Amino acid sequence: MSLILADVAAEAANCTKCELAQKRTQVVFGMGNPDADLMFVGEGPGAEEDKQGLPFVGRSGKLLDRLMAEEMGLTRDLCYIANVVKCRPPDNRDPKPEEVDTCRSWLERQIQLITPRVIVTLGNFSSKLLLDTTTGITKLRGRSYPFDSTQSDQREQNYPLSSTGTVIIPTFHPAAVLRGGGLPEAQMRSDLVRARMAISG
Ligand code: URA
Ligand code: SF4
Repeated sequence: MSLILADVAAEAANCTKCELAQKRTQVVFGMGNPDADLMFVGEGPGAEEDKQGLPFVGRSGKLLDRLMAEEMGLTRDLCYIANVVKCRPPDNRDPKPEEVDTCRSWLERQIQLITPRVIVTLGNFSSKLLLDTTTGITKLRGRSYPFDSTQSDQREQNYPLSSTGTVIIPTFHPAAVLRGGGLPEAQMRSDLVRARMAISG
């Protein structure tokens, strides 16, 4: 029997592989359509997400929903939304490198099972992780990158397509747009337009 995303979610719900397990209310695995062409990947659950068990349901999520609708004509049930770490870091601190490293296998399994055409990485954590780089989001955004989960050396070299054909389009985290105002918002809008065009191929 083939493993489906719901099985992986059920398994993750009991995960205690890193220290974030201790203070979370619940694991926030992800939500949306398991067959989506488009995936968004954020950083980690905040207070509201930890409470509801769903990703991007607070202020950042409201902005994401609005920009997704305005620039892509999409609602969140048509895509899949997840985070780098599935449990809330206490006091909204950054996830630690060892937490990111421990949790990444859940995200990798999500990507494998969903096989989206486009992954929009929101902010530094997901962009650096999935592009395997230390370069910051301000430099990374504004273009698309081939995604290959197995051959990170190929990604560096700017190959037009990876084995699954998935592309990564990095953009700002909505929380950075909420803080930063007009310029990052305009840039995020343009990144989402790029993502819409990449989905329709
Ligand atoms: N910020 C994130 O990175 N993820 C969420 O789910 C909510 C806020
Ligand atoms: Fe497990 Fe990830 Fe939660 Fe850590 S953050 S306990 S690795 S699900």
